[in-house]
Amino acid sequence: MKIKLFLIAGTRPNFMKISPLLKEISKNDGFTTLLIHTGQHYDYEMAEIFFHDLMIPAPDYFLNARGGTQCQQIAKIMSRFEAVCVKEKPDLVIVVGDVNSTLACSIVAKKLGIEVAHIEAGLRSFDITMPEEINRIITDSITDYFFITEPSGYENLLKEGKARNGLFFVGNVMIDSLFYGLKKLEKMELATFKTNRFISNLKEYACLTLHRPSNVDDKKTLSTLMGYLGKVSKKVPLIFPIHPRTKKNLKKFGINLAKNIIFVPPLSYLEFLNLWKGSQMVLTDSGGLQEETTALGIPCLTLRENTERPITVSEGTNIVIGRNYDRLLCEVDNILKGKSKKGTVPKFWDGKASCRIVKILKRIYAKKG
Ligand code: UD1
Repeated sequence: MKIKLFLIAGTRPNFMKISPLLKEISKNDGFTTLLIHTGQHYDYEMAEIFFHDLMIPAPDYFLNARGGTQCQQIAKIMSRFEAVCVKEKPDLVIVVGDVNSTLACSIVAKKLGIEVAHIEAGLRSFDITMPEEINRIITDSITDYFFITEPSGYENLLKEGKARNGLFFVGNVMIDSLFYGLKKLEKMELATFKTNRFISNLKEYACLTLHRPSNVDDKKTLSTLMGYLGKVSKKVPLIFPIHPRTKKNLKKFGINLAKNIIFVPPLSYLEFLNLWKGSQMVLTDSGGLQEETTALGIPCLTLRENTERPITVSEGTNIVIGRNYDRLLCEVDNILKGKSKKGTVPKFWDGKASCRIVKILKRIYAKKG
């Protein structure tokens, strides 16, 4: 009998994480895998385009749980996912990252007595006001198999009382996708990218992403930040693929936008990769980009007060700016003067994390017999 795995994805960063896993699992006869797309992200540029770029097959189930408040979204995903679990009876539900879909599906699985594996387990920002921190803590509190990207994840889980034999330091599946994307870019005609007309005329530029509720949901915070980003854009052209949450809020708050910031719609995985890997620096509040920039040695200035990915600071190119935006201007100057922080690539961020995960899953199920 084959082991039946469910792989859960709902948001943009999830698609990048499940893609290498799906490819690796499909090489193994012992598993049947069903892909469940919760529909948390639903715009073409936020979801479907990633399926094309990363060659992800169409989902086996689409839960269409778009929109609503966080709790409405979680509740919708839970009730729809429960029905799928009851029908399909998976042996293991694999969740990735820290989004609402991760939390909702892990709770459902455990309530039905199904085992849960969490990819990217153990990360902690220690900031419980972050929706993702709640998702991480609750998911890890009911996870059976913890797949860990960096040593801090291992230490956090030990401190929380998890048994060592459920913890697996495997590296970072996001970096598996990054390597896949780099190879694909080599063979592509880049002139088809919308952003190519900007970057081909620019000697240097920076990339910006912004979507955390702590940065974009409050009018004063967002307008202050956009003011400083306007100042940055006078030093270096700033290309800003804008997230739907941020776009809605800029409009709602009537915030004036600096002329030098180049706004573009959300980009496909490959187009965005091509954009940021050619940039002088990335300014971001994303978690994944802190890791990706570290993997390629691109300077990263994180527009948050903390990071759940401390290895990107201790070993990588990341600097956490916090709310001290004068520091932001100073660090931008340093990078432009060629004095950027140099980093190294963390252990196991080598493009083989999903291979390690699948080997471990095979071992686990071989033992169970
Ligand atoms: C979610 C994750 C966040 C992750 C981010 C990646 C949670 C709590 N947050 O944040 O951890 O870093 O995804 O992008 O799970 N919207 C659209 N079209 C879409 C998707 C969203 O218009 O395709 C709108 C939604 O209607 C909502 C807003 O954007 O108004 C936020 O979407 P949501 O999925 O709730 O959270 P994100 O901010 O995207």
